Amino acid sequence: MPRHVIRPGDTIKTIVKKYNANTNNLAIANTHLENLENLNPGDVVYIPAASDGTYNFLETKNLKSSLRTMMGFSVRQIQEHYKLYQDYVIKINEIRAKLQALKQKEADSIYSEYRALKTAELYAVNNCKLHEYYFENMGGRGGNATGNVLEVIVRDFGSYEYWEKDFRATCLMARNWAILGYDFDDGHLHNYGYDEDAGLAVRIEPLLVVDLAEHAYFLDYGTNRTSYLDAFAKNIDWAVVKSRFTNIKI
Ligand SMILES: [Fe+2]
Repeated sequence: MPRHVIRPGDTIKTIVKKYNANTNNLAIANTHLENLENLNPGDVVYIPAASDGTYNFLETKNLKSSLRTMMGFSVRQIQEHYKLYQDYVIKINEIRAKLQALKQKEADSIYSEYRALKTAELYAVNNCKLHEYYFENMGGRGGNATGNVLEVIVRDFGSYEYWEKDFRATCLMARNWAILGYDFDDGHLHNYGYDEDAGLAVRIEPLLVVDLAEHAYFLDYGTNRTSYLDAFAKNIDWAVVKSRFTNIKI
């Protein structure tokens, strides 16, 4: 939700005008402020989103430069894969623009344009996010996890070797993605394989993500997923995994 930090001279009227906001909704979204008619410099006013389907335009994230110099991955392989990720971002924006224009017309669970767009939106959003996690957790020096990540892996899997074996097996059984994730409900790490038609586990924070679709490795390894996984393991950026785990609000 956008926010506005009050500066001298700001009043609720100037904010309503500036953001074309609805006064009632503005009051509902800002119960932390005692009196909207008496705003002080430094107060934060949350601006409710427009209720006409307006969406925030999604932008592609840049690749880390270290992804272009990884041992075991050609630059072309990474570039082609990145193009595919960019397509997801383009499509999300296209889908959301179409949804906005459709204005919830004729939603139906058997078939409707609205359903087709909403289903495609979820598919594209999941794939966009997972590609961002994947690219971000590559480009490191590989090796084994260390510090608090090693600690929690051993706590939840019994040994690092067991986790590694299980994660590898998960990478071989899944059709699209493998995820080492933290479950907010049971407080433990789990290895999950994700097929497009199986859905993602809810309330799981991905810590380490591997793309298992052949487009992730076909240029360098053909259909040899095992060699691809060997190369991936040598390029994991464990500092990123550590940062994700450390930032979890447990
Ligand atoms: Fe991919």
